[in-house]
Amino acid sequence: MAEGTAPISPEGAAIGRPIARDDGVAKVTGRARYAADCRPPGLLHAVIAPSRIARGRVTAFDLDAAMAEPGVVAVMTPANRPPLAEDPDAKTAPIVFRLDLLQDDRIRYAGQPVAVVIGETLEAAEEGAFRLAPAYAAEPALVDIDAAEPFVPETVGLGAPVERRRGDVEAALATAAHRVQRRYETAAQVHNPLEPHAVVAVWEGDRLWVDTPSQNVARAQRRIAGLLGLPPDHVHIRSPFVGGGFGAKAFPAGPQVLGILAARLVGRPVKLVLSRAQMFGAVGHRAPTRQTLRLGLADDGTIAALAHHARVASSRFDDFFEPAAALSGGVYAAGAVETTHEAVRLDIATPVVMRGPGEATGSLALECAIDEAAAELGLDPLAFRRLNHADTEPISGRPFSSKALRACYDAGAARFGWAGRPLAPRSLSDSDGRLVGLGIGTAVFPSMMFQAEARALLRADGAAIVELGAHEIGQGAATALRQIAADALGLPLSAVTLRTGASDLPDAGGAAGSSHTATAGSAIHAAGTALVARLAALATADPASPLHGAGNAVLFAADGALHAGDGRRDPHAAVLARAGLGAIEARGAAAPDRAARASHAMAAHGAVFAEVAVDPDLGAIRVTRLVGAFAAGRIVNPRLARSQLVGGMIWGLSLALHEAAQFDPATGAIANADLGAYRIPVHADLPFVEALLVAEEDTLVNPLGVKGVGEIGITGTAGAVANAVWHATGVRIRRFPIRIEDLA
Ligand code: MOS
Repeated sequence: MAEGTAPISPEGAAIGRPIARDDGVAKVTGRARYAADCRPPGLLHAVIAPSRIARGRVTAFDLDAAMAEPGVVAVMTPANRPPLAEDPDAKTAPIVFRLDLLQDDRIRYAGQPVAVVIGETLEAAEEGAFRLAPAYAAEPALVDIDAAEPFVPETVGLGAPVERRRGDVEAALATAAHRVQRRYETAAQVHNPLEPHAVVAVWEGDRLWVDTPSQNVARAQRRIAGLLGLPPDHVHIRSPFVGGGFGAKAFPAGPQVLGILAARLVGRPVKLVLSRAQMFGAVGHRAPTRQTLRLGLADDGTIAALAHHARVASSRFDDFFEPAAALSGGVYAAGAVETTHEAVRLDIATPVVMRGPGEATGSLALECAIDEAAAELGLDPLAFRRLNHADTEPISGRPFSSKALRACYDAGAARFGWAGRPLAPRSLSDSDGRLVGLGIGTAVFPSMMFQAEARALLRADGAAIVELGAHEIGQGAATALRQIAADALGLPLSAVTLRTGASDLPDAGGAAGSSHTATAGSAIHAAGTALVARLAALATADPASPLHGAGNAVLFAADGALHAGDGRRDPHAAVLARAGLGAIEARGAAAPDRAARASHAMAAHGAVFAEVAVDPDLGAIRVTRLVGAFAAGRIVNPRLARSQLVGGMIWGLSLALHEAAQFDPATGAIANADLGAYRIPVHADLPFVEALLVAEEDTLVNPLGVKGVGEIGITGTAGAVANAVWHATGVRIRRFPIRIEDLA
């Protein structure tokens, strides 16, 4: 953020208020129009035919049978797919995923689209896809992370270093009084947002209108324009409502582009919606991991060495490797620390970012290992964590821009009732004879920020419209950003309208990396500040204004007026009216403060406490309490923030106990590709989940002091649940999710 931006008005009435979400009523009454709700005239329906094999070639289609189905209009295969301006396998930008757009007959994973059938009705297209009956030449497929040959990739995540170290871990391990070495396994997961990937594509000459859910409309516009050879401003992406993304919609996926190509092929509007089973195919997932933690411990309980090594999986043809070990460079103080990765390639779809990509699985392994180290030393796991609190970021030595983790430990422990927890496992039981255990995990997530722009328009009636291509993906961004806009403009919330979710608006960055409120909010803040400055210049230059001659610097905007702080005020509408202006507009931009980010580590922190009850005969695990305390800088809307944190914590519970996409070694396909067999927690699996907000002020992270709450909840929680299971039973399970048969 540029220097010289005004501080947030202390009079700001909107930020910090727990208002209900703006989109709530539209969503629960069905008025919210999602992509698949769009029905342009002449609409056709497209259905993907997914590969049944994981590796090999398509040798034939029964095109005659498919076309003979009444209502089938066309079948799109590699033979007739409209041409592309770019090879979908080309890395045309630093962060671009390779896509399967029917470029040839090769099969790279089960579920890969091999054809698209277009019909007058959905039923006709589905029947046509069934009748297409592709024939395959199958080759042996490998989907087992343990059986593949590892290698060291060039980067992990979206360009992060594969290895980081500070100090000599091997030397510190060799001389440590105690050593703990443990290996943990996590399963593949699939995002499964409530709204599947969907696209409605309408071509008008060489202009394209696309209704599709997206976490980043500007990126989607660039990628789609590039593939089609169109100027970006000829591609209009609309994404006003997104029914969850969790990373799966951060990048345009192949099926979305196939829907656009199908519309090109037939010259009519086309809708393509993935089925739930197809969501387990071509739109990304969280790959499995194998993680080894090595800790060297001094007699006084301090960590002398911490090494976190992760094996992560990707596809044969692209390079997203989940950075599972990376977070361990930033959580606990250690004399020496290193984080390293190795990768394997499997015959699976390319994984993609998924809520807490790397942090979620890495935190699970780290928090279990920390717990095992505490047990080795006979220390209370919370006391052990406090003892090894990182005052500076261990891997870099940088100070934190702010870090209220100790206050999170205090608040969470007090609320949960940690004091008095017996050290030994298998010490507690409930009145039903179930074994009871209490566990803790430290939560952490980096505070990212990206570039964004926004524009603000103040009308003569004193109402404002703020526009930017931000994303309401169910997380409440539309509401929180409008709160930021109201305070920046000094207007009551009721006077501010926010327009988002379209690529024709200024690029607001993506709703990803828990960065959206910080990034888009900072741009809104900048636009609002610029608009108030224009307004102030008009007022102070106007002899008729009560503020005439006042210095701009002392003015602030609140309650729909400019104020001099001495009782003098001039309403926004009055300033415009006297100037004879129908409206004034201002733009603002935001970018991360590179100097502050070079000198400081920036992260949100938290402490999660879990209680479980385990049936001693059946091994059935019930989480009975879950309390998290989080410090994430300024909280724009406590109600929405808690909702994000609670949602993340539920996913953490799910990571520990429920979710696993099971690759079938015989077919290479995910065998449990539906929400019946892919276990997610339902209400009966959940206790009352509580998220406490711990006060934290941060003047470096961005002008708003906002850190982000979207992903941190999943970290800490999974480890806390696993540690509670150990405390209940005395059995340490290191393969996740923990299964009933592990404990019975
Ligand atoms: Mo989220 S995994 O950063 O889209």
